[in-house]
Amino acid sequence: MDIIVKLAYLVASILFISGIKMLNKPASARKGNQLSAIGMIIAIIATMFQLDILSLPEVLICIVIGSAIGYYISQKVQMTEMPEMVAIFNGFGGLASLFVGLSDFWLESVENGEIIDNITLVSILVSILIGGITFTGSMVAYGKLSGKVSGNAIVFTGQHFVNLLLLVVAFVGGGLVLWQQDMMIGLWALVAISLILGILVVIPIGGADMPVVISLLNSYSGMAACATGFVLNNYMLIVAGALVGSSGIILTNIMCKGMNRSLLNVVMGGFGQTSGSTPSAGGKSDMVVKEVGVEEAAILFDSASSVVIVPGYGMAVAQAQHIIKELMDVLLKKNINVRFAIHPVAGRMPGHMNVLLAESNVPYDRLLEPEEIDDDLANTDIVYVVGANDVVNPAARHDKNSPIFGMPIINADKAKTVIVSKRSMASGYAGIENELFGYPNCLMLFGDAKATLTKVVNEIKEM
Ligand code: TAP
Repeated sequence: MDIIVKLAYLVASILFISGIKMLNKPASARKGNQLSAIGMIIAIIATMFQLDILSLPEVLICIVIGSAIGYYISQKVQMTEMPEMVAIFNGFGGLASLFVGLSDFWLESVENGEIIDNITLVSILVSILIGGITFTGSMVAYGKLSGKVSGNAIVFTGQHFVNLLLLVVAFVGGGLVLWQQDMMIGLWALVAISLILGILVVIPIGGADMPVVISLLNSYSGMAACATGFVLNNYMLIVAGALVGSSGIILTNIMCKGMNRSLLNVVMGGFGQTSGSTPSAGGKSDMVVKEVGVEEAAILFDSASSVVIVPGYGMAVAQAQHIIKELMDVLLKKNINVRFAIHPVAGRMPGHMNVLLAESNVPYDRLLEPEEIDDDLANTDIVYVVGANDVVNPAARHDKNSPIFGMPIINADKAKTVIVSKRSMASGYAGIENELFGYPNCLMLFGDAKATLTKVVNEIKEM
């Protein structure tokens, strides 16, 4: 049985690694996801047999119940709520690691009075520390993303010092537990410190910097799971945790580059605290803008020879991806070149725009990254900004006081004409005014993206 379980773990690990590799390209991503899911089923069943916890029918019942809950949640959750869901998943992953670490220590040291070997004990301490930080950090991130907690950076003097001090105390406490072996009180102190640290690390991070935090917490949950794997002596958990931990760090790095932040900045917290970074900042602005009507917009599209579409969070809110695909089809029929410029942090989660556009069957080769399309923007007749705001804000290039200063943006303003679909002059996630809307080459097409674009497409069809 032991050999079968180990072989099953090997197969599951291979499936996980190949699955992640396939996520690299949109065309193979769905299959990669399915492969990883099969790997997970194999891993769960093998673990159940290894630990001899349950019989096969009971394992199957558990899988059916778990899958039913997962299916229900995945059907119910809106695409716009995905980051919140990821935050909750990360948090519970961390909490599970914390519980496993605690219970293992309790069982071996307190109940059975055994001496725990140093490797296991260090793993228990790491599980608890990272698990606790991940749990409360993720809950704060969830609160900020869902608007239940203020999205502003909450900063107090000496915050970094307090964080560092707590970390030092945690290490000293951990060292004492290691030395004394049966110091349950030290372990409880570690739990408390880790939970407090999680809150303190995430509260100073505000507004537009949350995506980096989510992917970092994702990585933490993987590291905690990896440490838990050592506690339980479970190879599968070590491999899966290491995969999540390392891919999370790689994603964090990509996001940092996308937002022009250093990783050290993220780990220390405290960025994104520039004034005005209120996610829900209202729609008052004295900027003078030029409006365009549906008919006029349709004429502009019809007479263009090249169009670049820049989708953003508003496309997800309006569920405008299908009508955008229709716009693409109609324009292509008229021999107008249509491409998409996708910013890495457009929307509210990594790959948000790609997922929605793939759902409406926009071919992957039309989706370009900012650096792939940047040189062409000046020669583009129309850049159509649909529900995007922060990712096209030119202030990121020159306004040193802007919270998004330094973030690479899509230089939509370089195009001959910019048409912006949004409902009002309200700000985007970073809570700041977008000077692009007042530029002479920018026209505002006010209204819900799906509703207005449907009218525009109908007009173009009749031309
Ligand atoms: P945002 O800057 O958030 O702007 C979205 C715009 O969509 C808003 O200005 C809003 O204006 C408009 N909108 C909302 N509903 C609409 C509808 N039904 N129809 C038309 N427009 C609508 O979006 P972005 O440019 O995609 O930038 C993303 C921001 O989110 C960045 O600051 C990024 O850092 C942050 N963020 C990203 C992630 C990831 S991983 N992608 C995660 C968390 C946060 P109106 O209200 O006037 O319509």
